[in-house]
Amino acid sequence: MADGGAVFVIVVVVVVKIAIILCVCNKLNQRSKMQTEPFPNDSRFIPLAMVKFLDDMEREKPIRFTAQQLRIATENFSILLGSGGFGTVYKGLVSNGIAVAVKVLNGTSDKRIEEQFMAEVSTMGRTHHFNLVRLYGFCFESSLRALVYEFMVNGSLDNHLFKASKGPIIGFEQLYEIGLGTARGIAYLHEECPQRIVHYDIKPGNILLDSKFCAKVADFGLAKLCNRDNTHITMTGGRGTPGYAAPELWLPLPVSHKCDVYSFGMLLFEIIGRRRNMDVRLADSQQWFPIWVWGKYEKKELKDLMMVCAIEEKDHEAVERMLKVALCCVQYRPDTRPVMSIVVKMLEGALPVPEPLNPFSYLFSGVNEVDYSLARLAWNDGGSDWSSSDVNTKSTVVADTPLMRRHEITMASE
Ligand SMILES: Nc1ncnc2c1ncn2[C@@H]1O[C@H](COP(=O)(O)OP(=O)(O)O)[C@@H](O)[C@H]1O
Ligand SMILES: [Mg+2]
Repeated sequence: MADGGAVFVIVVVVVVKIAIILCVCNKLNQRSKMQTEPFPNDSRFIPLAMVKFLDDMEREKPIRFTAQQLRIATENFSILLGSGGFGTVYKGLVSNGIAVAVKVLNGTSDKRIEEQFMAEVSTMGRTHHFNLVRLYGFCFESSLRALVYEFMVNGSLDNHLFKASKGPIIGFEQLYEIGLGTARGIAYLHEECPQRIVHYDIKPGNILLDSKFCAKVADFGLAKLCNRDNTHITMTGGRGTPGYAAPELWLPLPVSHKCDVYSFGMLLFEIIGRRRNMDVRLADSQQWFPIWVWGKYEKKELKDLMMVCAIEEKDHEAVERMLKVALCCVQYRPDTRPVMSIVVKMLEGALPVPEPLNPFSYLFSGVNEVDYSLARLAWNDGGSDWSSSDVNTKSTVVADTPLMRRHEITMASE
C-alpha cells in the first residue's frame, strides 16, 4: 500500500512536470509566432544571423546585402513607400522583423565606382545623430544599387503638412520641435561630424518622422553619392528641388553648405503655413508664400498672417521667431545667411534674431513691384528634369573583398 502511494506520488509529479514543460513550450511558440506575425510566411523571412546583424549595427558598420536578400526582405519590392529623384523606396523586413526602407537607386552599377560608392556609404553609415535617419547598409550589384535605412513609421513631413486629411494633424508645438530637430540634424552634418556633409536637398519629403514624431533628416550624403560619376547622375539641370534650391544652385555662383540653410528657411515657411510655398491655386499676391510673408513682416502685419495660418495666440511669439529665422535663412547672398548652429540657438530663443533684410529684393523689378515671372523662375529652375536609367537584371555574386574589409563592411549573413 505504501509502495502504491509512492508510485502514485511519482506519477503525479511526472504528470505535473510534463504539464509545465508543455505549458512553457506553448508560451515560447506563441511568442515566436507573435514576433513573426507581420511576416507570417516563413519563406519570405531572411534567415539573417540576428546576433551578428545587431552586433554589426552596434559597431556602426554598414552591412552589405545581396540583391537576393533585399528581394526577399521587400517581398520582391512589393510595398512601395514613395519615389523621388534618386530612386524608389520600398518597405522591407530583415533579421527577425527589423523594419527597413530600401531605396533602390536609379541607374546601373558600374564596377569602376564600387570603391567610391563604398567609401561614401561607409561614411554615411557612421554618421549618427538623434535627428538623422540611420543607414544600416547597402547593396551594390550589377542588378541592384540600393541603400537600406531604418524605417520611419510616420513617413515624411510633406504627407503631414500638405495632406493633413489623411492622418492626424500635428499640433504647432510638435511642428516647432520638428523644425528645431531638423535644424539640429543639419547643424550636425555641417559643423559637428568629422567631414562636413552638405545635404543639397532639404525639403519636407526628406524630413522623416519616427513613432514619436521626432524629426530625422533623410538622404544626407546622397547627392555626393549620385553625382560623383556623370553616368550616374539622376538629376539634370542642377541640384536640389525647385522651390527649395538656393539661387546659387541654379545660377552660376559658388555653392557652399549655405545652400542647405536657404532650403531650411523655405522648409520653415512651409511648416508655419502648412502649405506648399508655391500654390498656383491662390491669387498672384499669395502664390509664393515667402514673398507674402515678407510683405506682412515689412508692413508689421504679422497679426494677419497669424490669422490666415490659424496660429493660436499662445504660439504667436514662437511663430514670429521662426518667421524671422526663416527670412534670415533665405537671404540671397549665402554669406549673409546664418550657420545652422546659430539657427538652432535662435530657434531655441537662446540668441536674439536680427532684423532680416528683404531677401527677395533681387526679384523686385520696380518700386515695391514684384516680378512674379522671376519668382516663378526661382521656383521652377532648380532642376526639375529627372531622368531614370534602365536597370540591368543580371546579378553578380558578392564575396568578402579587400575593398569591403578596408571600409569595414561586412556581408549580411544568410
Ligand atoms: N526611411 C524611411 N522610412 C519610411 N519612409 C521612407 C523612408 N525613406 C523614404 N521614405 C518615403 O519614401 C518617399 C520617397 O523618398 P525619396 O525617394 O527619398 O524621395 P523624396 O525625398 O523626394 O520624397 C518619402 O517621401 C517617404 O515618404
Ligand atoms: Mg528622400
